[in-house]
Amino acid sequence: MSEKTTGQIDNVMHEDRLFPPSEEFSSKAVIGSMDQYQQLYDAAANDLEGFWDGIAREDLHWFEPYDTVLKQEGHNVEWFVGGKTNISYNCLDAHIVAGNGDRTAIIWEGEPGDQRTLTYTELHAEVCKFANGLKSLGVGVGDVVSIYMPMTPELAIAMLACVRIGAIHSVIFAGFSAEAIADRNNDANAKVQLTSDGLYRRGKVLPLKATVDEALEKSPTVEHVVVLKRVENEIAWTEGRDHWWHELVESVDADCPATPLDSEATSFILYTSGSTGKPKGIRHTTSGYNLWAKKTFQWVFDWRPDDVYWCTADCGWITGHSYIVYGPMSAGATCLMFEGAPNYPAEDRFWDLVEKYKVTIMYTAPTAIRAFIKWGDEHVEKHDLSSLRLLGTVGEGINPEAWMWYHEKIGGGKCPIVDTWWQTETGGLMMSPLPGATATKPGSCTKPLPGVFPTIVDESLQPVGENHGGMLCISRPWPGMLRGIWGDDERFFDVYWKTVPGSYLTGDNARIDEDGYYWIMGRIDDVINVSGHRLSTIEVESALVSHDAIAECAAVGRPHDLKGQAIAVFCSLKGVEPSEELRQELKLHVRKEIGALAVPDDIRFTDAIPKTRSGKIMRRLLRDVAAGRKAVGDTSTLEDFSVLAKLAEDDEG
Ligand code: WT7
Repeated sequence: MSEKTTGQIDNVMHEDRLFPPSEEFSSKAVIGSMDQYQQLYDAAANDLEGFWDGIAREDLHWFEPYDTVLKQEGHNVEWFVGGKTNISYNCLDAHIVAGNGDRTAIIWEGEPGDQRTLTYTELHAEVCKFANGLKSLGVGVGDVVSIYMPMTPELAIAMLACVRIGAIHSVIFAGFSAEAIADRNNDANAKVQLTSDGLYRRGKVLPLKATVDEALEKSPTVEHVVVLKRVENEIAWTEGRDHWWHELVESVDADCPATPLDSEATSFILYTSGSTGKPKGIRHTTSGYNLWAKKTFQWVFDWRPDDVYWCTADCGWITGHSYIVYGPMSAGATCLMFEGAPNYPAEDRFWDLVEKYKVTIMYTAPTAIRAFIKWGDEHVEKHDLSSLRLLGTVGEGINPEAWMWYHEKIGGGKCPIVDTWWQTETGGLMMSPLPGATATKPGSCTKPLPGVFPTIVDESLQPVGENHGGMLCISRPWPGMLRGIWGDDERFFDVYWKTVPGSYLTGDNARIDEDGYYWIMGRIDDVINVSGHRLSTIEVESALVSHDAIAECAAVGRPHDLKGQAIAVFCSLKGVEPSEELRQELKLHVRKEIGALAVPDDIRFTDAIPKTRSGKIMRRLLRDVAAGRKAVGDTSTLEDFSVLAKLAEDDEG
């Protein structure tokens, strides 16, 4: 994030479709009306500490009670000070104690179609054994365990085993390179590496262990490697350093009581890439994080014991941490976990899973939804999706037309959609509809959750007016907030706290509409400035996506002599061929939807848009391409390098 701030941003998007929850949904919901929401919101606003005190006592198991709810010194905060709890206890033992041990915790399906289910009692047993295995390698409180594994139950088991004994996990998405692993391991001082022999990806085998071997040549702090057998490929073996998972757990004790940990003990670090510089190890805690993940899961996903909940993320991202493992499992939910890709063996894999496991709640990303739209409705229509009752999205803004498609084609017009805004740094959801209470508007994350206090300011730090965009900040602490960047307090202050004194700077722009609804306008650095008008990327993109021919679109600014910046857009098409005619039609379309100001100067048609490995459009790289520059800056998080090379080659025609 650069230090550059923006003035106010022009709002050019007009969305007046409104979708109130059905009476039937509301009558059964955890939070069933806006009055109930407002009561909770006001309670937190009037007495923040009292509010969280009440919830923390109820919702977490305490080995030792805390004496102070919140201690705050500038940007350094501590929650539930003096208390001791354990996240793994709250996710596992608590359900067994309550008599719910037989409830299914994980329903898993592997890419080749293999299946496994684990009850909470069975998961608890696996976690205890693996925790003892880690202990046998000398892992203890405060040691960092690096995890580079496929989406198997063992990945969740590994995470839960770490937090059970106070070890700090650092999960690295299994698509990252050896270089990326080495950087993260060195920064974190990782002591143990968990991996598998390989992983399945669209029918091929990726050699994870070989990548780890290469990474460890450059990250010498790692003393032990534990290898899960998944694909049975041949791997190199370093005697003394490498251990098979199944052998490690063979001879250990089955019993491993959860270690009482300080509220503020680091539970995990998770690396997130900034637009520049090396990745930041975002540091989360024990009690505060756990409480935030659990409560937000219950509020927003309106969880009920008979739900089958599916979050399609990978555990390598915060979404997987908070909404595959820690949130749902603290609540005692039944979670579907899937190892494969959405288009293997065919483009209907997700819908096959929804039908087969009767999924009731599905949480996915706009990038996936746009892909489904592009692949065509016939893949969806093959399947009975009537089990679904609630849909969610996260990761980027969702274009209103993609929202409508999700609502109609996947939700059958009857499922509320929760568009959840949050960040790796926030630990859990911050703004989202409550499905039984909030009337939704396509493209808006609606309102802050109870205990979240957003402000929007312009570059002179003044609050902006209705429908003006500015920098989104959070003005009061919340339990799930990050506590630091691993090993770099100065950067922690500079990135999040320096710009707007006393507030957490999210790095996003946003506006509030006439109904008090929030609209995220993209990253501060991505604003396009045309003749002094500041436009948000998402608004230009949404206008294009509302045209039938466009599946996906990325808008960026490029230098322009007269206007300062001109708009360049990269579009991928839905079953039509690129043509000059279409280009003119799209310009007219944008003129009609937004106005002359937002008409793109350049429209480029492309098969694929460069994205991060977590599916976000990399606008920073596209800015370079649009300006005719060679891509500079960090490209290590780019998912597919060939996309970038191809874009640079293609000329506008
Ligand atoms: C950034 C955080 C949060 C878990 C996954 C991503 C963007 C996220 C939304 C949304 C508009 C969104 C923001 C945010 N973002 N959700 N619902 N609407 N934008 O975590 O990698 O830390 O990214 O993703 O720009 O700051 P992350």
